[in-house]
Amino acid sequence: MSNIAIIGGGQLGRSLKELIPEATLLTRPAVDITDFDSLSKALAAIDGLEVVINTAAWTDVDGAETEEGEKIAREVNVDGVLNLVRIVNSRGLILVHISSDYVWDGNESDHLETEKVKPMGVYGYTKACGDTFAAQARHYIIRTSWLIGDNLPTDSKNNFVKTMANLAVKGVSPKVVCDQYGRLTFASELSKAILHLIQTKPEYGIYNVSNDGEVRDWCKLADMVFTLVGKSFPEMEVPEVWPISTREYVSGKDNIAPRPKNSDFNLDKIKSTGFIPSDYEPLLESYVQGLCKEFTQIKGVV
Ligand SMILES: NC(=O)c1ccc[n+]([C@@H]2O[C@H](COP(=O)([O-])OP(=O)(O)OC[C@H]3O[C@@H](n4cnc5c(N)ncnc54)[C@H](OP(=O)(O)O)[C@@H]3O)[C@@H](O)[C@H]2O)c1
Repeated sequence: MSNIAIIGGGQLGRSLKELIPEATLLTRPAVDITDFDSLSKALAAIDGLEVVINTAAWTDVDGAETEEGEKIAREVNVDGVLNLVRIVNSRGLILVHISSDYVWDGNESDHLETEKVKPMGVYGYTKACGDTFAAQARHYIIRTSWLIGDNLPTDSKNNFVKTMANLAVKGVSPKVVCDQYGRLTFASELSKAILHLIQTKPEYGIYNVSNDGEVRDWCKLADMVFTLVGKSFPEMEVPEVWPISTREYVSGKDNIAPRPKNSDFNLDKIKSTGFIPSDYEPLLESYVQGLCKEFTQIKGVV
């Protein structure tokens, strides 16, 4: 698998590198996808390259609603993808590109790959434009949602589960939105699905990938995290999680991007390739247990 390049060193990029250690991981500042020459040079230096996986993106959904953020989101999520497509097409490479549930407005649930895109915010719009370019290559466009980088240590960039677990151990009672629905996607699971597509080479196209399991709202998921933290630290009094509507949550705040109400995917297409996404609940349980172990070691929580 040394014929694979992974661009972007965030949650997914690092998880992919862990799963495919022989792959070349290209990260900033050495490689910037908005700089055609640096990207082209870095990819040219990899012997026998066949597949480029693009995990790089401007993922600050609310930041993209500001003037400066919109500019960067367009440069990375649209122009950067165009740079990549020009390179992979000139060299006959396969492009795996990561897309998002934010390309839809979320009025439908059980999203199919064929659903027409209808983004509500700047981030979603740039991701939808990037997909249009990526589709000009030999491509696997992976739509994913609610990504949790379960490969990263406790003190690295936060994700929803880590944030909730931290609040639980600190005894903070959060208000969490209860009217947006979806399933978690663990980066380790998404990485396995990507490797499966590369190895089995089904028809090119768009594939939805998340973990399987019950569709829940963020508040319910937060509640599950709090309960799991309570199991790890039975002597600790874990506070309650309070539901709040999206309307209440955004009230009085500026530059909050609209969120899709329904982010749950129909997973039939990826399953038809032989990849059966696992239920997120057991993964959530072991991830929170792991976080709690780290909390004990790092912070001496008990
Ligand atoms: N997170 C989610 O819930 C979610 C949901 C649906 C879809 N997705 C999509 O899934 C993919 C992976 O997301 P993620 O959560 O792994 O993102 P992430 O943790 O935010 O990582 C994104 C990475 O892209 C890098 N990057 C940004 N601009 C770049 C540039 N110009 N050149 C090179 N690298 C650049 C960032 O580098 P720096 O570290 O230097 O900033 C960062 O390491 C993205 O396409 C995202 O849109 C994510």
